Amino acid sequence: MRELPNVKDLFEARSLAVIGASATPGKIGYSIVKNIVNDGYTGKLYPVNPKGGEVLGFPIYKCLKDIPGEVDVAVITVPSNFVFDAVRECAEKGVKFLPIITSGFSEIGNKEEEKQIIAFAREHGMRVLGPNIFGYSSSKISLNAAFGPNNLRKGGVAIITQSGALGIAMMGKTTVECVGLSCVVSIGNKADLDEADLLEYLENDPETRVILMYIEGVQKGQRLLSVLERVTRKKPVVVIKSGRSSRGAMAAASHTGSLAGADNVFEAVMKQAGVMRAESLDEAFAWCKFLTAAPAPKGENTCIVTNGGGVGVMATDASEKYGLNLYDDQAKLKEIFSPVTPEFGSTKNPVDITGQAGYKEYSQALTAALENPAIHSVVALYCETAVFTAETLQAMMKESYEKYQKAGKPLLFSIIGGEKIEKAIVNIREDQIPVFPDVYQAVSCMGAMYNYSRHAALPAPVIEARKLNVPRIKETIAKAKADGRTFLLPWESKVVMDECGIRMPRNAIARSHDEAIKLAKEVGYPLVMKVASKDIIHKSDAGGVKLNINDDAGLLKAYEDILTSCKKYKADAKIDGMELCEQVKLTTETIVGARRDASFGPTVMFGLGGIYVEVLKDVVFRSLPVSRAEAKGMVAGIRAHKLLEGVRGEKPKDIDGVADVILGLGALIQAVEEISDIEVNPIVVNEAGKGVIALDVRILLY
Ligand code: COA
Repeated sequence: MRELPNVKDLFEARSLAVIGASATPGKIGYSIVKNIVNDGYTGKLYPVNPKGGEVLGFPIYKCLKDIPGEVDVAVITVPSNFVFDAVRECAEKGVKFLPIITSGFSEIGNKEEEKQIIAFAREHGMRVLGPNIFGYSSSKISLNAAFGPNNLRKGGVAIITQSGALGIAMMGKTTVECVGLSCVVSIGNKADLDEADLLEYLENDPETRVILMYIEGVQKGQRLLSVLERVTRKKPVVVIKSGRSSRGAMAAASHTGSLAGADNVFEAVMKQAGVMRAESLDEAFAWCKFLTAAPAPKGENTCIVTNGGGVGVMATDASEKYGLNLYDDQAKLKEIFSPVTPEFGSTKNPVDITGQAGYKEYSQALTAALENPAIHSVVALYCETAVFTAETLQAMMKESYEKYQKAGKPLLFSIIGGEKIEKAIVNIREDQIPVFPDVYQAVSCMGAMYNYSRHAALPAPVIEARKLNVPRIKETIAKAKADGRTFLLPWESKVVMDECGIRMPRNAIARSHDEAIKLAKEVGYPLVMKVASKDIIHKSDAGGVKLNINDDAGLLKAYEDILTSCKKYKADAKIDGMELCEQVKLTTETIVGARRDASFGPTVMFGLGGIYVEVLKDVVFRSLPVSRAEAKGMVAGIRAHKLLEGVRGEKPKDIDGVADVILGLGALIQAVEEISDIEVNPIVVNEAGKGVIALDVRILLY
């Protein structure tokens, strides 16, 4: 059995065969050869076709074994019924990588053959890209082995795409948008090589500065996350995922035969791994371009320089949306900008140098911001006026941008106006200067830059080891399973919660009045009394529940009252006694759940709890394990977080106690594979230092 090759040999292939190369223009086997030749592949190219002949000046080999030298990569573009034969030939030849263009495998239900091909390839030391792909490119070797556009611009963006058509469209868009590529990889059915394998190579590829992924569904989510967590500390990763809407998710599930995971989980775990999710292709491209070229900011202070108040306000709104911190030291701003701002302008941020500002004033204002170390990044806005010509505007932008690049300070522009401005934007982009016709687009790019910088600066998460008595939990589960149940009864759940260190209300069963008096001392007043009878299911309907019992007298009265009502409700009911339960004051109710996600494995959820969870949907997810800081971050991540942090003079709540529950349930679902779902709702959160208490727990088993 040959050892599996290093992915480096795919991206740095010294020799490449195209099996199914065609001399007929219009055929995929022709287009691929044409692109390889056109973009100037630096390695050896071997077209293969039983008919022989030549294509674009290259001799066509009748079969692979006729090729004189070694073949690192064989692109397969023969009809599906010939693919396996071609793969066998590749094994004989010692090929390392097989990008299989051909469709007709798992995406149409032909899973078995696909599986067999992959198993055979791997057994023979070969790795497969696809099948069902449009090919791949690698700028290092000037290779464009895809049936998409040619003349690809070289640069720092790597694209990994699951969608074929969209991937080809993205390649086309890179040429129009002047985005330079380090590679484009179509992964199609990702039957063997997947995003994680490619990311591991791109992580250390010096030419790749930003990675853009288009994902429809994730299969080996845990591995992908662990690779992403590493990669995002070295370079930005941007993702576009379809299936955000529920209809979109259905379409994605049937596309490429892959399963689109629940979108809210995807969104949360990508964020956790430091991946930035773009809303649209345009946004993704803008981010990638900016992140590839711009220097990282040295601090959080952003300054907006504008010649119009309106766009300044828009940019302020956008800054809030995209998480920019506008520099707010009024005295310092005045000191920096008053020499370059007219009387009727404003030195507050946004700095308004007014509509009369021309080339000189704009340059001066941008230079003032550049030279002051208190300002770390600048968004420059310009509304078309008669004071500037498109040429002087262009010159000013170019000059300022170069100075900023040299100084290592990020700067971008948004310019708004008519035909001349639109033309200027096209020209300025040619110079690789970040310029946008829309204020929000510009600010969203700076926001992405800050998001990335903040993530890269975070310390690596510290995962606490939590000790659970797993054998005791498994014993409880085994009994439930022996009973034929796939859920735990309340007292069994309580055993499990005890092991996780999650407090539930104290309770005890009293079988007589005297015992009730004795046990009430242990449970403590105020308490709740509930009838204990298998024959009475709806306790409240039977008058079987009494709240607010504050003393022994009240306790004895409640005992009698419940007995009388229950006898009246069901004369033959067998009453075992009364359950005495600590009465918990319902303050802030939250929920913590844990489950195994189909794509990402064990995940944990936190949110606002109680009976309206489904309506409020104020919940956040994380993939496990999480650190204590991340668990606390989950609390800060819900919309209603202020309720827990202390609102209207209330003291802050016990957020550490909530984090303990998150960590406890997380440890439980990771350690006990028999559990499919755990839900603790509500969890009442007391004031800081006074703990939390879980009122209801549901544990479901496989
Ligand atoms: N070895 C080498 N060449 C072979 C071969 C073999 N074992 N068997 C056939 N060929 C040659 C054929 O002779 C033909 O060459 P020709 O043009 O000189 O006649 C060439 O391979 C292609 O075969 P052909 O039967 O003409 O098929 P095709 O070009 O119409 O389609 C595919 C082949 C792979 C493109 C097609 O099956 C397919 O899968 N298309 C979808 C691709 C796709 O969309 N992928 C996903 C993108 S996101």
